[in-house]
Amino acid sequence: MSTTEDIIGRADINDLEAILSVSAADQAETIKAVKDNADAIFTWDYEKGARPALNKLYEKAKVSMWNGETDLDWSIEVDQEEVARNNQALASGFDDMDLSHTPFAKWEEKEWVNLGMEFQNWSLSQFMHGEQGALICTAKIVETVPWIDAKYYASTQVMDEARHVEVFARYLDTKLNGHYPLNAHLGLLLDDIIEDARWDMTYLGMQIMVEGLALAAFGFMHQMSTEPLLKKLLRYVMSDEARHVAFGVLSLKEYYADLTDAEMMERQEFAFEAAVRMRDRFMQQEVWERMGLKPKEVLPLLMNNPNRMLFQQMLFTKIVPNCKKLGLLDRNDGWLRQRFQELGVIDFEHLTDTSDEYEAFALNDQELGTQVA
Ligand SMILES: [Fe+2]
Ligand SMILES: [Fe+2]
Repeated sequence: MSTTEDIIGRADINDLEAILSVSAADQAETIKAVKDNADAIFTWDYEKGARPALNKLYEKAKVSMWNGETDLDWSIEVDQEEVARNNQALASGFDDMDLSHTPFAKWEEKEWVNLGMEFQNWSLSQFMHGEQGALICTAKIVETVPWIDAKYYASTQVMDEARHVEVFARYLDTKLNGHYPLNAHLGLLLDDIIEDARWDMTYLGMQIMVEGLALAAFGFMHQMSTEPLLKKLLRYVMSDEARHVAFGVLSLKEYYADLTDAEMMERQEFAFEAAVRMRDRFMQQEVWERMGLKPKEVLPLLMNNPNRMLFQQMLFTKIVPNCKKLGLLDRNDGWLRQRFQELGVIDFEHLTDTSDEYEAFALNDQELGTQVA
């Protein structure tokens, strides 16, 4: 069994120095190469529907495609400052704290609104980069998964992810006022997922962990958003995303049933690593730097702020029940259960898992049929 240090590069999950030592590379280059190490797998077993649940998802995906160009009304004008004012309480989460001896002591309305705008630029930028990660991972699954029903389904997900990257990029470019580079913690995680040669690890890293978190985060933003274009964009993306997470749960449920304890341990460690990377990502260190603050002074305030902690934990509402469904929480004497307890997210284990709830996210006929002229 590996130590926490082996898995995430530090012994204490809350070691701020170590978290901050991982910072975003400047994106001087337009492209970045990552070795994907995997064999492309052909199968000669073409029997469609041998895995009925995956076949059902595939058929569902074929009739659920929307078009980012025509289904969203890009003529809507977005006043980002107003959006930031509306979301201010949400963005900072500092309202009930005494800030008099903190770096925020001299902040006035203007700084808080700027912070709200930076949060939005940052969040949507990370969504966009994460969507590209999903595009690449799912293309990889088409190559590496040995089951024809899974190859078929994954190909529809590739198309979904292309749309997602497209609409987030367009929203950032035309409605907001600045991109952020890929967050370094998210970058480490995406590299690890792509570099792993085992096809099921792509699913675990992307469909279960990254997309599980995205589904929760999009849901939260969708609920809070008063800006109609973003609200609808998120609604459309979420309807796809729920299917993607279900694809992960349904595929891994079958595959994990035959794994040994030692093999499951590797998956549990990978899930833990992914959870920590995503938690670290939400420290948003680049935003504090851009606001002229020292992340080292701000992070302890975040970590002691009940509102922020609650928000961070909420991001795990999909991941934890899905890990439970896959047996990842309990195998090997509940190793991952203990880790999730340390991260403060174990209480979500009893929520509905996504293999059961994806249909609730589906677009209705009207939503699929509404084309903006
Ligand atoms: Fe996506
Ligand atoms: Fe997705």
